[in-house]
Amino acid sequence: MTEKTNPSAGQLETGTTRRKFIAATASATAVASALPIELSAQVAGSDEIKVGMIGCGGRNSGAIIQNLTANDGSRLVAIAEAFQDKIDGNGPRGKGLPAIKQQLDKDGRGKQVDVPESRQYVGFEAYKQLIDEVDLVCIATPPGFRPIHFEYAVQAGKNIFMEKPVCVDAHGYNRVIEAAKLADEKNLKVVVGLQRHYQKSYLEAFKQVHENGLLGEIVGAQAWWNGSRPWIIPRQEGWTEMEYQMRNWYHFVWLCGDHIAEQHVHNIDVINWFVSGDSINGGNPVSAQGMGGRAGTEPRSVGEIFDHHYVEFRYGADQGNVVFNSQCRHIPDTWRSVAEEIHGTEGIAYLGGNNPSITDRKGKMLWQYREARGQKDANPYDVEHQELYRHIREDIPINNAYYGAKSSFTSSLGRLATYTGQNITWDEAVKSDFSVMPENYAFDAEPPVKPDADGNYDVAIPGQRKLPWKA
Ligand SMILES: NC(=O)c1ccc[n+]([C@@H]2O[C@H](COP(=O)([O-])OP(=O)(O)OC[C@H]3O[C@@H](n4cnc5c(N)ncnc54)[C@H](O)[C@@H]3O)[C@@H](O)[C@H]2O)c1
Repeated sequence: MTEKTNPSAGQLETGTTRRKFIAATASATAVASALPIELSAQVAGSDEIKVGMIGCGGRNSGAIIQNLTANDGSRLVAIAEAFQDKIDGNGPRGKGLPAIKQQLDKDGRGKQVDVPESRQYVGFEAYKQLIDEVDLVCIATPPGFRPIHFEYAVQAGKNIFMEKPVCVDAHGYNRVIEAAKLADEKNLKVVVGLQRHYQKSYLEAFKQVHENGLLGEIVGAQAWWNGSRPWIIPRQEGWTEMEYQMRNWYHFVWLCGDHIAEQHVHNIDVINWFVSGDSINGGNPVSAQGMGGRAGTEPRSVGEIFDHHYVEFRYGADQGNVVFNSQCRHIPDTWRSVAEEIHGTEGIAYLGGNNPSITDRKGKMLWQYREARGQKDANPYDVEHQELYRHIREDIPINNAYYGAKSSFTSSLGRLATYTGQNITWDEAVKSDFSVMPENYAFDAEPPVKPDADGNYDVAIPGQRKLPWKA
């Protein structure tokens, strides 16, 4: 994919309301604070905002509804997609634009969608046309592309919602961090779909830990994403290898980052957040070592990712030398859990689920979260869009890209550790600037990995797989 600076970067359309609302040129700098955002009630908005979505799959079909619902004046005007059938809703795994329209009609919001064929952009370069013509972009493609799309959107001066993970390698991490700095300079508002930061139970637990000190000093942590097996789309005749991998993106490192990034990033992010105590910039471990592999629940003809990882992440002395054991697995009929646990000198926090709690070291309950009587907590997937618009409207800095990038790259560090069997430091991995992405993006281009003569992909063997910067 060629990257170039968008000549229209920072330029705004005229119109007082839009100018006030979008305000993409100012110079405000993000103010770092150690405390989480406060959830606010939804603010109804009528300012007209042109919204575009990049990726028209499962998540963005929901995210776009949540986005448009958070601001009455927003209109979905363009879609960028790798495949036309995903927009039309007749490809594998997807309901596309018809389902989005149907839902918005049902909600009485049908007027908020206007995407004629002329604004349906298809292919690897489609994101550029889309970003050039909208005010706000919702990005939910496979994460390998995130740094490219995010960087271009920032250069073009657009406000951004982007899904997690936000990178799958060091080069992507470094690009996201640099683009995040530029986003601050341009006073852009950036929200990342690590929705636990917008979930009341987690925010309350964070306060108990960091304001009320219920854990004492944090000394250790544990987290799990032990869940279900990912989907597989059978190879079809006529597909190039690139098309097969794009359709099955979950199974390839360059697109997905492996299961440890794609799903487990949520839990890893919670641990980075609670250990660092920093809700704005986040934190990261200083090293990782672990083990993992492919127990063989699916044939090697499907893809290259592991089906289990167990990583020991270590944080620096400034963060109490905390040790965090991270575990993720997608093997059928094994124990399931998606949760986090944080151990302190005075207590243990049990997060995940609707009722997180904190006990003392002997199990006596110190605090338990409950929704207010007769009320259901706001859905964090809604809140993240409400907060994005509130920050735009009130011109308050918000930029989740820093913690989003750190948590995403923590997952990559874990993957490097399990694939190679080595103990790897954060600094050497970041400095290496290694990339797992292809040289060219086209359906007839070479992807970075290919099946062997028997149709099987190479799966990493610890001890034999080299670190990318030492290979
Ligand atoms: N926060 C959450 O709880 C949550 C939940 C689900 C998914 N997600 C994230 O959302 C992202 C997408 O996941 P999904 O489940 O929607 O996958 P999906 O496969 O359903 O959708 C992704 C879409 O992006 C398209 N695409 C691929 N490359 C593209 C490119 N270069 N340009 C434009 N379009 C491209 C695909 O064709 C597909 O339609 C992932 O990063 C995932 O982790 C987050």
